[in-house]
Amino acid sequence: MRAMRIWVLSDNTAAPPVFEAEHGLSLLLEVEGKRFLLDTGQGEVARRNADRLGLDLRSVEAVVLSHGHYDHTAGLPFLLQRTGPKRVICHPNAFDSKYYQRGDIWRFIGMPWRREFLESAGALVEENTGPLELADGVWVTGEIPRRTEFEPGDPDLKCERDGELVADPFLDDQGIVVDAGEGLVVLLGCAHAGAVNTCLYARKVAGKERILAVVGGSHLAFLGEEQLTATISAFRDMDPLRLAFSHCTGQEAACRLAAAFGKRFIFTQAGNCLELGDHPSEGTRPPPALVGPVGFPHYP
Ligand SMILES: [Fe+2]
Ligand SMILES: [Fe+2]
Repeated sequence: MRAMRIWVLSDNTAAPPVFEAEHGLSLLLEVEGKRFLLDTGQGEVARRNADRLGLDLRSVEAVVLSHGHYDHTAGLPFLLQRTGPKRVICHPNAFDSKYYQRGDIWRFIGMPWRREFLESAGALVEENTGPLELADGVWVTGEIPRRTEFEPGDPDLKCERDGELVADPFLDDQGIVVDAGEGLVVLLGCAHAGAVNTCLYARKVAGKERILAVVGGSHLAFLGEEQLTATISAFRDMDPLRLAFSHCTGQEAACRLAAAFGKRFIFTQAGNCLELGDHPSEGTRPPPALVGPVGFPHYP
């Protein structure tokens, strides 16, 4: 299997006592020496955790935004301060005004920065709607077709169209897929288009069937029993070697996934490094320099 590393720079929980948590997600993918960021978290946490990990963010080739929610995009200017000007790949709808709304309760949850500000901060914005090859065997998926019947989307998530709040179609939702040789590694932001839909489309983009690992946010904390059960069943059929979910997966869905997949399921935390492929030790572990006597999760 092609070797790769995925560092979790921002997540809802963090490996104590060194790393910081926030409601957000940022993953740094390294494949054959090339590095790509998927999402930025919501603030300075990703940058500070990268510093703690000793990662030089200037080596990042491109930043991919999985969708326009603040918890995946608002950290961008803070990261750009470290990286310098970088390609920022996102769907045009990532700049939509996005909201959470349930009954009378509503709040803005879109990207809090104007595009002009991000560009002045060094974002070389490239809009994509379809698949985009970032490097040999590494793609951004672009828009994900909704194929399953059990992934209708979260009804509380809206976007603004002509002054009205409407159900967000999340055309901007996208992931990263890596051809790892024997199969595919799929990285998710929030998987608003559905974690299973994302994997089904990843197969099409990369032209391979086997799903080796799925990493990132699944939004399963908010989608109900039926979708969770159907998702677990679909992943059983895919039979991945690793499911490393976190962020909007939540503890309850994570427990169900852990019960279903045993040691193949990992609940990742900020500060973790997930090593896949031909590394001396596959699994999730803190970098050697930061292995402490207590508090660090170690997944052999
Ligand atoms: Fe999220
Ligand atoms: Fe989201």
